[in-house]
Amino acid sequence: MGEQFEYSEKVMDHFRNPRNVGQIKDADGMGRVGNPVCGDLMEIQIKVEDNILKDVKFKTFGCGSAIATSSMITEMAIGKTLEEALKITRGDVAAELDGLPAVKMHCSNLAADALHAAIKDYMVKNEEKAKIEAEKYDFDVIVVGGGPGGLTTGILCAYRGLKTAIFESSSWGGILSWLCHTKMIENFPGLSEKTTCKDLVDTWMSEAKKLNVELKKERVNEITKDMKVIAQSGEYRSKIIVLATGSSPAAAGVKGEEKYSKDDRGIYYYVTNPEKFAGKRVLIVGGGNSAVDAALSLIDTADLITIAHRHNELWAIGQKIERLKASDKIKILYDTELVEISGAEKVEKAIMRDLKEDETIQQVVDSVILAVGMTPNTDIFKKLDIEMDEKGYIKTDRTQKTSIDGIYAVGDIASDLQLVVIAVAQGATVAHNAYIELRKPYWRSAGRL
Ligand code: FES
Repeated sequence: MGEQFEYSEKVMDHFRNPRNVGQIKDADGMGRVGNPVCGDLMEIQIKVEDNILKDVKFKTFGCGSAIATSSMITEMAIGKTLEEALKITRGDVAAELDGLPAVKMHCSNLAADALHAAIKDYMVKNEEKAKIEAEKYDFDVIVVGGGPGGLTTGILCAYRGLKTAIFESSSWGGILSWLCHTKMIENFPGLSEKTTCKDLVDTWMSEAKKLNVELKKERVNEITKDMKVIAQSGEYRSKIIVLATGSSPAAAGVKGEEKYSKDDRGIYYYVTNPEKFAGKRVLIVGGGNSAVDAALSLIDTADLITIAHRHNELWAIGQKIERLKASDKIKILYDTELVEISGAEKVEKAIMRDLKEDETIQQVVDSVILAVGMTPNTDIFKKLDIEMDEKGYIKTDRTQKTSIDGIYAVGDIASDLQLVVIAVAQGATVAHNAYIELRKPYWRSAGRL
């Protein structure tokens, strides 16, 4: 029996009505192949967006099968990822056309080869483009602030292979170091009961070093919209910037605060060394966890502790309040507002207002601790014109992106729920999204988060 030369209906249809013929303006890749035996030529051009073939067009100078296979392969490739399109074989093209005569199989080879050549051309160009682009930057990710949110963001970015630096002008570990480094870490499930804040910070630091995170102990003075971080040692460019500058104790805004909060004159915002308060009469202003923690930390050293709170109940965790109430050294003044601190060189007296009775109370004190809340450290972003809420916290979406492209925020500056575990989780979210933004992994285009 002689060889079959019949063409399928599909071949005839694509030959008579070829799809996607022509040229793409500003094509991302081009593949041109020819068959030396028959002399036919085929050229395929592609447009790529997010690793997906958005458009494929062809020009073929050849036989009817060459036109039909070109037309068919463009239809098969559009909408596929580059990796999927590279897997299309001559057999697939022929099968999709309901078969080709054996003598015409090389025509489908031409179509597959031209498509693969166009994709490879795109990949080479893209790699070169990425290289040139990468040379413009010092880092993939710069994190400004080395507290819990900043350190974990840096660690997890480096873990994903991103070139990362963290800038910290004060203490690595942030609030965990300057406020409570010897205290057990609380409210962070999964750690041993003996883990102190210092232990956790030390572990993060050693992980960061192991992963080659560049740890820069210096102040950042400014961040610009064109992704520059202006630090003490110079300017650095980064593809992504993460703001993680944390928060500081808020000022109470009372008379005398400015004078006595300097030079160890008796007003403080937190307790770092309880021994310093030995034998003293201490007034603590506030009713949240910070105020209650401050009072509990002074039970063994201070002579008398008074808590003055504007409301009629404390806002701290129940267990802490119970411990507080069990101590006969602690007196709580509810519905009481601090008005003024006075004294000669040092704090001597607190003037308060009983809000219920509308009376003035005067109390002799040696020290005052103002634990009235925290305020986000956003001073260096003032020129950045970044969106903040009415309390000064930076607004982010669920991926921690701020209102400025390429800039993310984590930790206390981006959340009014100021917990270490939240800052750490936000760091993980940023690292995941930074990786997607910078590396554009193939699984991202498959619709996975
Ligand atoms: Fe050469 Fe068809 S005969 S491509």
